[in-house]
Amino acid sequence: MSSGRRRLVVLHGANLDLLGERPAEHYGTVTLAELEGLIAAEAARLGWACLCLQTNHEGGFIDYLHEHRRADALLVNPGAWTHYSYAIRDALELVRCPVAEVHLSDIASREEWRRHSVISPVVTFTITGKGPEGYLEAVRRLVEMDAR
Ligand code: DQA
Repeated sequence: MSSGRRRLVVLHGANLDLLGERPAEHYGTVTLAELEGLIAAEAARLGWACLCLQTNHEGGFIDYLHEHRRADALLVNPGAWTHYSYAIRDALELVRCPVAEVHLSDIASREEWRRHSVISPVVTFTITGKGPEGYLEAVRRLVEMDAR
């Protein structure tokens, strides 16, 4: 990442390490390694460097947000923290760059408690329910925004 290329940081939250084992009707069958490969390839195609990180610890996720708050773009899927973590919401408020919130599943059509995202008001845009393609769309939109 010392190449001078623009830098995208992708943060995956709780339980996303077990993609491929989670309910396929919501998350499909792609593993996290496969998903990260797709994201990195799309970023590279557009000339960007990409760092993907995952943690099951809320404080660790916040530490990553602090550490990377000056990246050129951020893509986050905080998993279940999306629905209640005001601490992650507050950390996102300190991020300088455009932030994409991405969910594999369509959270608006699932259980009541999943329908609300406490982070949506502080991100640049949100994509839900498009599976891995949603991440690739987010990468393209973030890169486009940066070019403006
Ligand atoms: C998720 C949706 C959340 O409700 C859930 O807790 C996840 C994954 C998604 O990508 O669809 O862990 O963020």
